[in-house]
Amino acid sequence: MTVEEAIRRRRSVRRFQKKPVPRELLMELLDMARWAPCASECCRFVVVQDEERKKQLASAARQEWVASAPVVVVVGADLMERPEIAGRWDAYKFRNIFPVQDTAAAIQTLMLAAVSHGLGTCWIGSFNEGEVARIVHFPLAVRPVAMVAMGYPADEPKARGRRPLEEVVFWETFK
Ligand SMILES: Cc1cc2nc3c(=O)[nH]c(=O)nc-3n(C[C@H](O)[C@H](O)[C@H](O)COP(=O)(O)O)c2cc1C
Repeated sequence: MTVEEAIRRRRSVRRFQKKPVPRELLMELLDMARWAPCASECCRFVVVQDEERKKQLASAARQEWVASAPVVVVVGADLMERPEIAGRWDAYKFRNIFPVQDTAAAIQTLMLAAVSHGLGTCWIGSFNEGEVARIVHFPLAVRPVAMVAMGYPADEPKARGRRPLEEVVFWETFK
């Protein structure tokens, strides 16, 4: 599958087959996610397959369907103090903005890699951060940014529309 095919084929999938996802495949996908562009290599991935823990994550998200995904990857940003950036003019960005961008790039890479292997995914951004951190035992410095539900799709969701290209693309200035 080409990158373009993966981009165009990806949909948010919220219904999954019971079929498990092989561990080697998960490792391969996470390896690809690791190669996404990153400012500080702050991304951490916790792969959750235990039924009880998935239920707890679903509850932390107030989204019951999450527990039905064979795999939920909790993506965190390790915000541990880094003395080497303390005096930098862009230290604020390193601490507050780049971790979000790093994890977002990794998540999208993970999702496209998953599509290319016939898997469905859904990005879950709405959840109680404290609860998720507690469930996967993140230390204080690691902040949960998103979860990715993953598995072989049980249906083929229709494409959600997007704003027309001419409404979102500007040339030279935002006119
Ligand atoms: C930052 C972010 C947070 C999201 N949070 C959730 C979520 O909590 N639950 C959910 O079901 N979908 C969530 N989504 C998925 C969007 O609803 C979905 O991407 C959007 O409706 C477009 O549909 P598509 O992914 O099929 O193109 C999230 C997506 C993003 C990028």
